[in-house]
Amino acid sequence: MPRLSGVVSLEETLANRRSIREYTDEPLTIEELAQLLWAAQGISETRHGFRTAPSAGATYPLEVYAVIAPQGVLAGDMFLEPGSYRYLPHSHTLVQVRRGDLVEELYHAALEQEWVREAPVNLVFTAVYERTTRRYGARGVRYVHIEVGHAGQNVYLQAVALGLATVAIGAFHDEAVREIIGAPEEEKPLYIMPVARPAWRYRLDPRELAEYIERRRG
Ligand SMILES: Cc1cc2nc3c(=O)[nH]c(=O)nc-3n(C[C@H](O)[C@H](O)[C@H](O)COP(=O)(O)O)c2cc1C
Repeated sequence: MPRLSGVVSLEETLANRRSIREYTDEPLTIEELAQLLWAAQGISETRHGFRTAPSAGATYPLEVYAVIAPQGVLAGDMFLEPGSYRYLPHSHTLVQVRRGDLVEELYHAALEQEWVREAPVNLVFTAVYERTTRRYGARGVRYVHIEVGHAGQNVYLQAVALGLATVAIGAFHDEAVREIIGAPEEEKPLYIMPVARPAWRYRLDPRELAEYIERRRG
């Protein structure tokens, strides 16, 4: 079950959120992965099945995948089988889509960005535009792009709260990524977010911020 409370305040997650691209090689735990997925697209209302990120007309165009590296995620004392998995928000479960080490392929599809190769988990957001454009026409395309931003920010903030690191990646070959994760043709990848334990942590110094703001007030 997702955790619904924590010890890091929203203000701290906002202040200390940074795109981090240097990681240790330690695995994530299945609990951490589950929490990140819940933050991305999990259920937070049980009457209609509404989610942690808002959606235009509750059309929910987004799908979330996790590409898991060999020895990337610990479930108890066993590692999850490497491959791609799709997140099912309503049952809060992962379903394996493709088996095997997909990380090297994903790294190449993401223009050889090292942080994709180094992370034990890469979350991939895809969208089925039709779910939203069916209702809103061409404007639905804008809504889908806004939505993935909401979901991506949720992942950033949840990562900070868990002491993990991530970075939003928009530069990659769409079709290659879709094939690597095993998504159907109607789904278009929009974001890759590597998640890992950080090699260093960003902490905003409150005095530095106060000085920064004061200086600009003249
Ligand atoms: C739409 C979008 C696409 C991005 N694409 C990449 C990317 O392909 N690779 C990368 O390393 N960072 C990417 N970033 C992260 C930005 O470089 C980063 O947010 C920016 O430098 C500000 O740093 P901060 O996130 O620590 O505030 C992307 C960010 C956004 C919002």
